[in-house]
Amino acid sequence: MPGNIDDPFRCVDAILKERAGFSRVVIVDMHAEATSEKCAMGWFLDGRVSAVYGTHTHVQTADERILPRGAAYITDLGMCGPTDSVIGIERELVIEGFLSQLPRRFEVAKENVILQGIVLEVDETTGKAVEIRRLRVPWGEAE
Ligand SMILES: [Fe+2]
Repeated sequence: MPGNIDDPFRCVDAILKERAGFSRVVIVDMHAEATSEKCAMGWFLDGRVSAVYGTHTHVQTADERILPRGAAYITDLGMCGPTDSVIGIERELVIEGFLSQLPRRFEVAKENVILQGIVLEVDETTGKAVEIRRLRVPWGEAE
């Protein structure tokens, strides 16, 4: 992501050291665009946290698993929102924007709403993940 941001790998490393012993269960939300960065963060933190999940893309991935040292991982949780859309926005507006290259006001789509995410089970005594299940629940139409 663009902007004046610090290195998330060094930052999370410092936070985990600073908060060592604070909690056995540690969940990391990696809010990022690139799947490679999220994947690398999962491997970087395996054995030190309970779960690493990605957010931001609005597109749920199907790579949920428990890594060898006990961290549950998924590249992106997806979204709670309309699937007949472009990541939640009225698709015609987004396509017109790409075609014209002109800025426009986006509106949230309303059709075929779903709830996406994960169900995560963690052993509180070890902090290791026991199970990660992907969730995709049809919700209907938005009001
Ligand atoms: Fe975002």
